[in-house]
Amino acid sequence: MRQPFPPGFLWGCATSAYQIEGSPLADGAGVSNWHRFVRTPGRVLGNDTGDVACDHYRRMKDDVALMRELGLTAYRFSIAWGRVLPEGRGRVNPAGLAFYERLVDELLAAGITPMATLYHWDLPVALDDRGGWLNPDMPDWFADYAQVCFNALDDRVPMWTTLNEPWVVADGGYMHGVLAPGHRSAFEAAIAAHRLMQSHARAVQAYRAVGRNKIGLVVNIEPKHLPPDASKQDRHAARLADAYMNRQYLDPALLGSYPEELREVFGEAWPDWPAAEVEALSQPVDFLGLNYYTRAVVRHDAKAWPVPVQPLRQPGGIYTETGWELHPESLTDTLVWMHERYGGLPLYVTENGAAFYDPPAAIDGRVDDPLRVHYLRTHIAAVQAAIARGADVRGYCAWSLFDNLEWALGFSKRFGLVHVDFQTQQRTPKASARYYARVIADHGANLD
Ligand code: BGC
Repeated sequence: MRQPFPPGFLWGCATSAYQIEGSPLADGAGVSNWHRFVRTPGRVLGNDTGDVACDHYRRMKDDVALMRELGLTAYRFSIAWGRVLPEGRGRVNPAGLAFYERLVDELLAAGITPMATLYHWDLPVALDDRGGWLNPDMPDWFADYAQVCFNALDDRVPMWTTLNEPWVVADGGYMHGVLAPGHRSAFEAAIAAHRLMQSHARAVQAYRAVGRNKIGLVVNIEPKHLPPDASKQDRHAARLADAYMNRQYLDPALLGSYPEELREVFGEAWPDWPAAEVEALSQPVDFLGLNYYTRAVVRHDAKAWPVPVQPLRQPGGIYTETGWELHPESLTDTLVWMHERYGGLPLYVTENGAAFYDPPAAIDGRVDDPLRVHYLRTHIAAVQAAIARGADVRGYCAWSLFDNLEWALGFSKRFGLVHVDFQTQQRTPKASARYYARVIADHGANLD
């Protein structure tokens, strides 16, 4: 017998501003680090940009109508900092803020719960030029920006999240340089990580003073598993990998401490942050958001940097176009692990999805994506299994509503439940969107 999804469980889709909006400079918006990054030769596959993307900035009303047709009860989007504060701080741009006010009003009129993310990787260049996440003033600037958003929207936005995936910001942006701003330094990554968590904490504090609803943090977790013949060295390396990717952000935010292993991962690049400063990173949140895509089976590899592990491809495994193994059991385990380790907080799956090769739309306009349907079915069932094991999971958001700009991979990878023809901007719900609409319609009672 399957455990029913709890009443009020939210069924959503997630997107982010730079990946779908287009019109990056419209209505007085400031230039973002991504607007600059996509123009830096060699950074983004095919020289793709977010200049148009899904043109959502101009098609927002129709897009919300489509969400309503699919029956979504929640929509997770992000606010572009530079639309609200073109210089990152100081002057507010009412025209930019008004876009999000219209979006939220439209969602509410459609009966869809808005879930707003304050930072999904697009930083005003005015702040990037001052060192971005390395600058010790970032927490103040972020809290000020958050405050502007709370003042304008908290009467209509019931759920806020501060940061989307701080690990990716620090690792992709400052450690490996594959994402904006494209730096490669362990020293910088350690500092950026800390400033991100200080910014999160400051925004939560600011929210407690004025907010009426709920605020949380969204992290990406990828469980690190071992092969059956793992050595002691493999086990140690997997622990380091787990600390670096999975506990580096949740531990300070929830427990007020960094995992011990980080000293070994970062070596001389690890700063000895004052204990009081680390404790202050823990500010009570109302919920946690989990972005789950895959797990990794790892072995020790001394050549790998900064964590000495190598992922092992699993024979017989199903892999997505981004090379991620389909492993729904790890979604269940991760939700239960978060529940147990971080005090039983309400949990939301804030992203979950897959890039697969989708055949071109057929003559009758249908796009069949059976692997994505399989991915959704098995992962929604995995959420249900986590609820049955006691995790307080209150919602699920598929990534993503639309095919969109997959960051450094440009438009080469499609994660959408809705196909987007980037020439015509035609939207076509794929079989996965129709499947998800059926699941939502009977509140997950039937996942077949
Ligand atoms: C991010 C999304 C991204 C997705 C697929 C997540 O890490 O939040 O912006 O498109 O993964 O890579």
